[in-house]
Amino acid sequence: MEAILAYLARNESRFVDDLCTYARFPSVSAQPKHSADLQKCADWIADRCRSIGLETVVHPTASNPIVVARTPNYDRRKPTFLVYGHYDVQPPEPFELWTSPPFEPVIKGRNVFARGISDNKGQHLAHLNAVEAWLKSGRELPCNLTFLIEGEEEVGSTALYEFLPHNKALLACDAVVISDNGIPTLKHPALTYALRGITAMEVHIDGPSRDLHSGIYGGSLQNPAMALCQLLGKLRDARGRITIPGFYDDVVRLTAYERRQMSKVPYNATAYRRFLGVPQLFGEAGFTSDEQRTARPTLEINGLTSGYQGAGSKTIIPSWASAKLTLRLVPNQSPEKIRSIVTRHLRKLCPPTVKLTVTSGHGGAPYLVSPTSAIAKGALRALEAGFGHDAILTREGGSIPIVSAFKQHLKADTLLLGMALPDDNPHSPNEKFSLDAYAAGMRMSAQLWPELACAAAAS
Ligand code: BES
Ligand code: ZN
Repeated sequence: MEAILAYLARNESRFVDDLCTYARFPSVSAQPKHSADLQKCADWIADRCRSIGLETVVHPTASNPIVVARTPNYDRRKPTFLVYGHYDVQPPEPFELWTSPPFEPVIKGRNVFARGISDNKGQHLAHLNAVEAWLKSGRELPCNLTFLIEGEEEVGSTALYEFLPHNKALLACDAVVISDNGIPTLKHPALTYALRGITAMEVHIDGPSRDLHSGIYGGSLQNPAMALCQLLGKLRDARGRITIPGFYDDVVRLTAYERRQMSKVPYNATAYRRFLGVPQLFGEAGFTSDEQRTARPTLEINGLTSGYQGAGSKTIIPSWASAKLTLRLVPNQSPEKIRSIVTRHLRKLCPPTVKLTVTSGHGGAPYLVSPTSAIAKGALRALEAGFGHDAILTREGGSIPIVSAFKQHLKADTLLLGMALPDDNPHSPNEKFSLDAYAAGMRMSAQLWPELACAAAAS
C-alpha cells in the first residue's frame, strides 16, 4: 500500500491539472446547446480511462454517451465493484454571481472553483486516480472494477435507465461505490447509508383566455396567480408539516441509534443560519435541522411563474400561473403513490373558477442500506485510513435515483462515500472542490479495494 500512496502523493499536481482540464468542458446536460460539449467531455474521460489501462467503451445513447471502463484481465475468482459517476453538470446561471467564469477553473488556496467540480467530476476522478496508482505501480488489484460514468444524472438519467437492464452482464457487480455526496467536515469522513427520493411535478392553472385589464375586469373573476398561491399555501402548515392526507403514512421513523449517530455531526444553529443567509431557521417542529434536511420528507416550490415579469408595472390579470414542485421522500415512501395523493389533493382543493392541470416529472425512490454489513465496515475502515479521522454514519437529503435501479437490476447495494464539503456550493454559483478532500478521497479509494475484496470474500 505504501507504494500506491506514494504514487498518489508524487502525482498530486498532475491530478489537479487533470481535474481542471475535466472541469473546463461545459457539460451542461439541461441545455441542448451543449450537446457537443457533453460528447467531448465523455471522450476526454474515456481517454483518461484508457491511458491508465482500462478497457473503455463510449456507448452512444439517444442523448449523452455512457462511458464504461473496466480493469483488464477480468478474474472471475475476484469480486467486482462498480464505480458510478456523472460527467454532466448543472447549468451555471446566473453568471453574474460567479467570481470567476464557471468553466475556467481557478485555484484559490486549497480549493478549485468551477461548475461541476465537486458534483461530480472531482469525486469520480479521485477514484480513477487511485486505480491509476494501483495499475501504474504494478500492484495487482484484489478485485475487478468497472467504472460507469454517465452524462444525464442532473436531468434524470433517462438513457442509463434504458441501458441498465440491457447490460446487466457488463455491469454485474458485488456492490456499487458512489462518491456523489458530501461529508460534514474533513475530520468527519462518512458512510452515507440513506438518500432521499424525489418526485417532480408541475401545477398549472388556467384562468381567462388571455391577459385582461385588471382595472376593467378585476374583482369579477378569479386571478390564476392568486388561486395558485392559495392552493400551494394550503399544502404546508405553520409548523412545517405537509397537510396532504396520507403523506406521512409510509415514513419510517428514525431510530434512537440513528438520532444518536446524527448528533455526532458538529452543528451550530447560528453558523448554519448565517451560512444559509436567512433571518431565522424554519423546519418541521420536533426535528433537528440535520434530521429535517435528510430524514424527513418535504415539499418544495422550485419555480413559480405568472403574469408580467418585465420592468415597471403592467396592470393585468394573468391568463395562467404555474409552479414547479419537487417532493423529497424518505424510506418507505413511494414516488408513484405520493404523486397520486398529491394530485388528488390538489384537485380537491382547486376552486371551480379556474382550470387545473398537474403533470408528472421525473422520480426516484428513497434509498436505505445496512450500515453494519461486512462491506460497510470495510468502507468505514478505508474512510478512516484515507481521511485520518474516525468515520461516522450519515443520511443525506439529496437524491441519486439510479441507486434503486442498481439494486433492482444488478441486485447490488450501494456504498455512498462522499468527498464534497458543505460549502462546496453544488447547483449554486461559485461551486468548488477542496483539494484536501480530493487527496483524502484518493487515499480512501486506494485503500477501499482490499477492504471491500476482503469483506466480499468473507460474506
Ligand atoms: N450529487 C447530487 C446528489 C446528492 C447531493 C446526494 C448531496 C446527496 C447529497 C446529484 O448530482 C443531484 O443533484 N441529484 C439530483 C437528482 C434529481 C435531478 C433527480 C437532486 O438531488 O436534486
Ligand atoms: Zn447535482
